[in-house]
Amino acid sequence: MKFEKEILCIGAGYVGGPTMAMIAYKCPQYRVNVVDILPEKIDQWNSENLPIYEPGLYGIVQEARGRNLFFSKDIGAGIKAADIIFVSVNTPTKTYGAGAGMAADLQYWEKTARQILECAESSKIIVEKSTLPVKTAQAMERILNSGKDGVQFEVLSNPEFLAEGTAIADLENPDRVLIGLQQTGSGLKARDELVEIYANWVAADRIVTSNIWSSELSKLVANAFLAQRISSINAISSLCEKTEADVGEVARAVGMDTRIGPKFLNASVGFGGSCFKKDILNLVYLCSHYGLEQEGDYWEGVVRINEHQKERFVLNMLTAMFNTLAGKKICLFGFAFKANTGDTRETPALTVAGRLVAENAQVVISDPKALDNARKDTNELNGDIKFIEDPYEAASGCHAIAIMTEWEVYRTLDYQEIFNSMQQPAFIFDGRNIVDHEKLYEIGFNVFPIGKPKLVHF
Ligand code: NAD
Ligand code: UGA
Repeated sequence: MKFEKEILCIGAGYVGGPTMAMIAYKCPQYRVNVVDILPEKIDQWNSENLPIYEPGLYGIVQEARGRNLFFSKDIGAGIKAADIIFVSVNTPTKTYGAGAGMAADLQYWEKTARQILECAESSKIIVEKSTLPVKTAQAMERILNSGKDGVQFEVLSNPEFLAEGTAIADLENPDRVLIGLQQTGSGLKARDELVEIYANWVAADRIVTSNIWSSELSKLVANAFLAQRISSINAISSLCEKTEADVGEVARAVGMDTRIGPKFLNASVGFGGSCFKKDILNLVYLCSHYGLEQEGDYWEGVVRINEHQKERFVLNMLTAMFNTLAGKKICLFGFAFKANTGDTRETPALTVAGRLVAENAQVVISDPKALDNARKDTNELNGDIKFIEDPYEAASGCHAIAIMTEWEVYRTLDYQEIFNSMQQPAFIFDGRNIVDHEKLYEIGFNVFPIGKPKLVHF
């Protein structure tokens, strides 16, 4: 069968995999090929054990794989065959040289551009899916268009806004699809081709276009605004704990103002995930690069409050448990950075585990999907750490439970049974405010929520 378009995605990670699976699922008339430098990842995408856990993902992969969705290892052949190439490689924070700890590391990105240049034999549209500093498209276009005569590349920006744990729903019904382009004849033509793909399932008024720099910047700003809301409510949670106000009640009252809105106002142990911190630091670096120190400081504050919130959580545990955690057994309920994912990148649970180990506590980690990653992440902590999936078994014999991830399962456990199996006095630190605090207190727990009055028996 001849397909209408040959689409390639370079980078088969949390974004590339689900995004391409959705395009293939919705558009059987296109052939979608996903490649990666890690051959074992491609093997996993071709197996029943996908490399990432995401609700609903397996179903759509199963439907499209082998029909018009392919995962392959031959990047060069993929580039040659493609009309449109999405680039979805990782862009982590730089750990070396100028901008270390702040700027985005563009090495994977640039390698991809050079490989496209080396392998392409015909003109192509290149779509930036990765999150990149503003003005990256220009650099990419310069590299790409330094090559063969007659082969032209048009670079579009098309940042991804999906959140992990809800990726499939977000892709199926996005708030918006943003396409940034250069207002030239070839830019407009490339935009039309990309719009045509999304228009297969996204309403026309949700597909918005802008200049290419606005598009690149909008992605960083969207993440900065979302994270800023969490740091704002978390900053208020400390004040609530001092004043006996309840952060949940404050968030509800504030969020009912339609100008503010109710979402992203859940106080927590702190935000995690691979992007918020990295993208804000990238924004801070950009501000600083352009001499905007005050503006950079403002955004950096969002990250500072987040670090403070994690530390505050551990110090609250230490104070509550009679100023020593040495030799005490503490169970972490959840290790993923949020519910419904196995992803643990930048998870606050790792910071908390590290601090507990530093206090010579014994740590037991429980999580329905993230234990493999938790094992790898905590390897360097060199602590007394155990991994037990069953929450009842994990909590048994512990002095305290700390809820790190808002997995649904932790809301509905038999906490009486758990209490009976624990060391007394038993403590629970609810880093997500998801359990019934009054009920747990009545069972006998000493309960420490975030931003709400503590409930203690002494
Ligand atoms: P990821 O690490 O899960 O996936 C990136 C993949 O790219 C990896 O599998 C890696 O092996 C591959 N890769 C790197 N260099 C390559 C090369 N030269 N050739 C082929 N493959 C290569 O990362 P991710 O979470 O999917 O994020 C990708 C980008 O999307 C980042 O810029 C991120 O900021 C952005 N983003 C992520 C999310 C999210 O929820 N994770 C959401 C929106 C945007
Ligand atoms: C976030 C954005 O929501 C996506 O739009 C964006 O595409 C993505 O980053 C990205 O660029 O990578 P994600 O990190 O997957 O998505 O998940 P979120 O739902 O945003 O949660 C991030 C962190 O904030 C989690 O640790 C979560 O538990 C925490 N959070 C979220 C809170 O502490 N309180 C809230 O009210 C909401």
